[in-house]
Formats: sequence, structure tokens, C-alpha cells
Amino acid sequence: MSHARATLARPASPTAGPLSVPSALQLVGNTPLVEIRRVRDGVAPGVRIFGKLEGFNPGGSVKDRPALKMVEDGLARGALVPGKTILDSTSGNTGIALAMVGAALGYPVELVMPENVSKERKQVVAAFGAKVVYSDPLEGSDGAIRLCRKILAENPDRYFKPDQYNNPANSLAHFETTGPEIWRQTDGRVTHFVAGIGTSGTIMGTGRFLKSQNPRVQIVAAEPEDAFHGLEGLKHMASSIVPGIYKEGELDLKLGISTEEAYDMVYRLGREEGLLLGQSCGAAHVAALQVARQLREGTVVVLYPDFGDRYLSTKMWLGWTRL
Ligand SMILES: Cc1ncc(COP(=O)(O)O)c(C=O)c1O
Repeated sequence: MSHARATLARPASPTAGPLSVPSALQLVGNTPLVEIRRVRDGVAPGVRIFGKLEGFNPGGSVKDRPALKMVEDGLARGALVPGKTILDSTSGNTGIALAMVGAALGYPVELVMPENVSKERKQVVAAFGAKVVYSDPLEGSDGAIRLCRKILAENPDRYFKPDQYNNPANSLAHFETTGPEIWRQTDGRVTHFVAGIGTSGTIMGTGRFLKSQNPRVQIVAAEPEDAFHGLEGLKHMASSIVPGIYKEGELDLKLGISTEEAYDMVYRLGREEGLLLGQSCGAAHVAALQVARQLREGTVVVLYPDFGDRYLSTKMWLGWTRL
């Protein structure tokens, strides 16, 4: 029996790159693209769909990119110096990413997150040695933002707060890495980029880079259809504190996706593509198919922020009846 093709292997093969890197931080980025061949639902043969697998980052999500960039920027500006603690509010993945970056650099990390984030996330953050402060689960990510502001106001000199919602280094990380990677990986053929919006860093920075290469590239955002949703990491903008880095005018299209259709898509991507993905990936893929179905030709790249094993204790999998 032949082995699976190596298309999912990390791009740094022994012949193409170094045999080792100095630290986990050099493993951030350069994630693979995988072609989606089955979960296409009536999309024309001239349209190719590729998923960018951000779960391959060392902290397990797309958030490694902005976490690293914001910390590097803080060090460069002198805002983060030895003795300070990295503090931020996070719905989960950014916390894990900051905890990973802090551990690799030797800086302590303190995170404020809603008490109801998944058990796996809490455990991973603890494993990287970060301290966690819980906010009211009923207040969602906005509750964590408010509590974090309070902690900082009480002790401003003790902390460095990357402030992912308002820090230009967040979207800049994607302008400098995610966008160029997608451009290179598609040989400049990408016609549509689809991603969910949380802080909006991914879609803003990647979108800006792709448009700088080809202004005709369409930037499509997937957002939860309503305020109460089960799509961890995503924000329903109309009912949320709007991130300072979010510029809605730079999007070509925004599609509202229901929690149910996103979950169903995650189940299908697992069974039909062999990709175990996080819930926001399902939402992004639903949006990608809606866009792709309108086309005769094109190259649609959809960003999958993380893998699904981080969510096995959540409602999405507890509601799964086909075990
Ligand atoms: C699972 C997941 N999906 C999507 C996003 C959205 O990414 P961004 O904050 O860049 O908009 C996040 C952000 O935290 C996330 O954790």
C-alpha cells in the first residue's frame, strides 16, 4: 500500500529548509494549503477551493502570527521589558498563542477569558505556564475585555497589554505573512479570500496584502448570523464592541452563517475530507461555498483558524450523534 501523498506535510522538508530551528517561534507561519475536492456542493469544475490549515502553527492556531508580531513589536518599542507580564483578554486561541510566545521568550503571561471557553483551551494555557483570570461567561468576549481593562487600570506599570482588538501589529502580522504565503502558494491565482471575523486581524491584513498584489481579489468575511451563537472565536459585529482595527469598508462581502450550518460543515469536512477542524472553520467554509457557487472559474482560499481536537468537549461534539 502506498503512503498518503505528502501534500499535508509541513513545507520545511529536509531538502527545502533547515533541519532544525532555534525555537518554537520560528515554526510560526508557513502553513500548508490543502485542496478541497469533495465538500464543494455544486461548485463549477473551473473553481478550485483551498483551505489554509492554521492548526499547523506551534500553538495550534492562526493566532500565533499576531501574538508573535505584537510581542516583537512591544519589545522593539520598549513597551515590553524584563519584569513586565504580558496581559490580554482573549476568547481562547490568542491566549494560547501568547502563552506559547511568552514561554518561548521567558516572559510571564496573564490571560482574562470567559469562564465558558472550552476545557481544552484552559488546560493548554495552563500547560504553557500562563495564569488565567475568568470573566462572566454571560458577558462573552466583551466581558473579558472589560475585566482586562480594569486589571490594567489598577496596575498599569506591571503589564504589557498587546490589545489585539486595537493593535495594528495584529493585522500587520497577516499582511506580512498570511497574505504573502497565500499569494505564493496559489502562484498569484487567488481570486477570493474567505475568513471569519473575530478581532478582524486575519481578514484585514491578509485582504490588504492580496489587494495590493491584485485589486480584483475579493475579500469575503463570515460572521455569526446573530448575537447568540456557538462559533467560538467569531464576533457578531452589530452586537459587539467593534475592534479598532476593523474597517468594514475594506471587505467586499460579509455573509451571516448560522451555528447549525457551521457545525454540520465541520462534521462533513471531517468525514469527507479527512480534516478535523474547529467550528469557525465550518462557518468560513459555508461562506466559501456560497461565494464559489456564484463563479464559473476562480481560486477560492478559505482560512481554517485551528483544528477540531481543541473543541472535543464542546457542544458541537457533545451534540454529535453518529458515534
Ligand atoms: C477559532 C477562531 N476563529 C477565528 C478567529 C478570528 O480571527 P481574527 O481575530 O483574526 O479575526 C479567531 C480569533 O480569535 C479564532 O480563535
